Amino acid sequence: MKKRVAVLMGGFSVERDVSLSSAQGVLKALEELGHEFIPIDVTRDITALAQNLEAYKPDVVLNILHGRWGEDGCIQGLLEMMNIPYSHSGVLGSSLSMNKVVARKICQIKGIRIPEGQVARLADVCAGRVMEPPFVIKPIGEGSSLGVHIIYDRKTPLPRLSDWPFEEKILVERYIPGREIQVAILGGKAMGAIEICPKGEFYDYEAKYTDGKAVHLMPAPIPSEVYAQVMEWAEIAHRALECRGVTRSDFRYDDTKREPGELYYLETNPQPGLTPLSLVPEIVAHEGMTYTQLVQWMVEDASCRR
Ligand SMILES: Nc1ncnc2c1ncn2[C@@H]1O[C@H](COP(=O)(O)OP(=O)(O)OP(=O)(O)O)[C@@H](O)[C@H]1O
Ligand SMILES: [Mg+2]
Repeated sequence: MKKRVAVLMGGFSVERDVSLSSAQGVLKALEELGHEFIPIDVTRDITALAQNLEAYKPDVVLNILHGRWGEDGCIQGLLEMMNIPYSHSGVLGSSLSMNKVVARKICQIKGIRIPEGQVARLADVCAGRVMEPPFVIKPIGEGSSLGVHIIYDRKTPLPRLSDWPFEEKILVERYIPGREIQVAILGGKAMGAIEICPKGEFYDYEAKYTDGKAVHLMPAPIPSEVYAQVMEWAEIAHRALECRGVTRSDFRYDDTKREPGELYYLETNPQPGLTPLSLVPEIVAHEGMTYTQLVQWMVEDASCRR
């Protein structure tokens, strides 16, 4: 059945460009599927957004925003109030997932291993008062590795306070050596686990969005019991964080000391990237689902259930 689809894209978080790239693929897929659609570039003018939606009267909204305000429950609240079915997680699932500190706590309660970590002020981290290296610092509620720094030893420079564009309170996590594993979930079910081998220092913004900067191995070539565990943990995280639709959970697999090694949960992305190099499309493709079919699945899954 053909639907009227409003595609929310762009937005005003630091991941604006990533969202525009994800949306390009989604718009092309909607065209192939024969749906009627309008792209809406979301700005801070929420009144205009509400009026636009009111005028277009979409059957569903595909929420292709990434980062703050679009992925953390804010936009979801507006769509709930307007009673328009939308893709991905609801208000609660989005806000729980996008706060890495809360997500870590909930997953730990469910028996998932997380890196040792704590919330601290960047100034205290810089003063050496928080954790001995190696550790990782990251904003509590951003994405695309923006603001993520790995501090390997006492000589690694920390970001300067005056150059830090994010909130002063950050997450400081023990650095987990080893490998990078990510799992895609569709409607509560794990679709597969992929390994990413970045060619540079780590899986940073450049490795995520520049062709040739990381090798993807699908399915992840890890021991079968570890594969089963990462799939199970991603499903548990998706459920425990009250997510729906598509999510992607990110893990580290430390096999540097023994084999099989230990898995560590990093985070769950309630609106994972849909760019040409993004991992959810690659994982589902391995299961025989095309990008276009994934978009159709999201259209059908859209709802107002929190
Ligand atoms: N504790 C850790 N130990 C080792 N590497 C880490 C750790 N935390 C983060 N990293 C590295 O930084 C990357 C980004 O971290 P994380 O997934 O927490 O941030 P993000 O900005 O939310 O990313 P996303 O693009 O998935 O939204 C990870 O994929 C990993 O390569
Ligand atoms: Mg991540």
